[in-house]
Amino acid sequence: MQNKIIIFDTTLRDGEQSPGASLNIYEKVEIARQLAKLKVDVIETGFPVSSSVQFDAVQRIAGEVDVLTAGLARTVEGDIKAAYDALKGADKFRIHTFLGTSDIHLSGKFGDDRYGKTMGEKRKTILKMACDAVAYAKTFTDDVEFSPEDAGRTDIGYLSEITEAVIDAGATTVNIPDTTGYTMPDEFGAKIAELKQRVNNIDQAVISIHCHNDLGLAVANSLSAIQNGARQVECTINGIGERAGNASLEEIVMALKVRKDLWDCGTDIRTEEINNTSRMVSGFTGMIVQPNKAIVGENAFAHESGIHQDGVLKLKLTYEIMKPESVGVADTKIILGRHSGRHGLSSRLEHLGYHLTREEMDSIYQQFLVLADKKKEVFDNDLRVLMGDEARKEEEHYRLDYLHVTLGTDAIPTATIRLNVDEKVIEESAIGDGPVDACFNAIDRALGTKSHIESYQVRSITSGRQAQGEVLVRVRKGERSFVGKGVSTDIIEASTKAYLEALREQRVFSIEDEFLEMVATP
Ligand code: KIV
Ligand code: ZN
Repeated sequence: MQNKIIIFDTTLRDGEQSPGASLNIYEKVEIARQLAKLKVDVIETGFPVSSSVQFDAVQRIAGEVDVLTAGLARTVEGDIKAAYDALKGADKFRIHTFLGTSDIHLSGKFGDDRYGKTMGEKRKTILKMACDAVAYAKTFTDDVEFSPEDAGRTDIGYLSEITEAVIDAGATTVNIPDTTGYTMPDEFGAKIAELKQRVNNIDQAVISIHCHNDLGLAVANSLSAIQNGARQVECTINGIGERAGNASLEEIVMALKVRKDLWDCGTDIRTEEINNTSRMVSGFTGMIVQPNKAIVGENAFAHESGIHQDGVLKLKLTYEIMKPESVGVADTKIILGRHSGRHGLSSRLEHLGYHLTREEMDSIYQQFLVLADKKKEVFDNDLRVLMGDEARKEEEHYRLDYLHVTLGTDAIPTATIRLNVDEKVIEESAIGDGPVDACFNAIDRALGTKSHIESYQVRSITSGRQAQGEVLVRVRKGERSFVGKGVSTDIIEASTKAYLEALREQRVFSIEDEFLEMVATP
């Protein structure tokens, strides 16, 4: 396509930075495969130096998924080398390096005199660090991206200077991030237009943009930048990301597609895969999509008022600007049940974007039969839940083998649990204010923990009386919080699983922290 907009998906990097959205390796690889099916142009797979889990996930995706993969690195050699080591198995890869450039970042993050005493000196140091990093990354690959972090609040003169310098040093993509989501659409678009004017070698690099959603303007800012010449857009599925999130991929892509009468550019995205991708990301991250979210919300194509329903029944175009099928929302819901065979199940899972080996299929099919016995009808969302459970099983250091709870209007809620902790069996009982509290107390006794529960949420993810309940538990330890998710037709069991998962996360991160302390930071 002429004037193609490059879709750079950062769900697995910036998206995973959403509080509580951490993904395991299996989940990351599955999402990367689905992003390949969606036909994104670049997948930012992670920040390899930040943890061994990140490194391994980037390495796996680079080796297994056939899309240009990118890895993030600060402007220090250790980060860039780690990114290279993680990415080198890929046919095509990109190193993405970044450094704060706004005066606020310079006086805050680089306030130390070793970066210079005056703002002028600091700017010189930062410019040199950026160019050195790009030149170093260039020794590993031709494809190097540089991001002047907080470009939205960076002085345009300095932004132009550093952009020109990094292109001279070899950057092939210059990404202009509105890191704090501070700018207005016209202002951000004008910034891109001005860079095109001021930077002499700008035609030697692709201009990219990366907008955060702190004021709810990430998509509007991205579109305004495209209007002014940006040709790569960085975005995430469901708009997840740091704080209020990033620009949502599906909204940008569909805005360009639905209003193609206004645009002389477009994307190669296979839009029919949007719904599946959205559901997979939501299921694996536990980040619920708000029902009224554009394109992928549960209500995005639901017409409630009588007048609207009447209009749509007569002519869909009256209230629908795009067909639900165009984003993969099917009219008919396929329902499986206990009589469905392996073949029916595997073809439905494949349709939903999952890839299973024969052994994985065996295990999923057994779980499917158990679920189908409990629930008469098994919907797509139930299958997504099963897949999420399977993914988490890989990491079950704390496995719940047995749970018994007694409760009643006049009884003290009591829970007895049996856990398998790294293949050691532990049994404990405890009482509590309610059945969930009793379970959590029994776990604390068994594991010798006492955690502060920051939040507890329960919702039903499928419909009907036998719906599956999903519980999200967030526990806090010091500065950090850890989220666990549990799903079951029994919400006490779901709560117990969720708490165990949050504690497991906490344990993994304590081990990662020890690892990070060993890695030098700049
Ligand atoms: O928001 C931001 O500035 C980033 C950079 C690393 C591109 O995520
Ligand atoms: Zn970001």
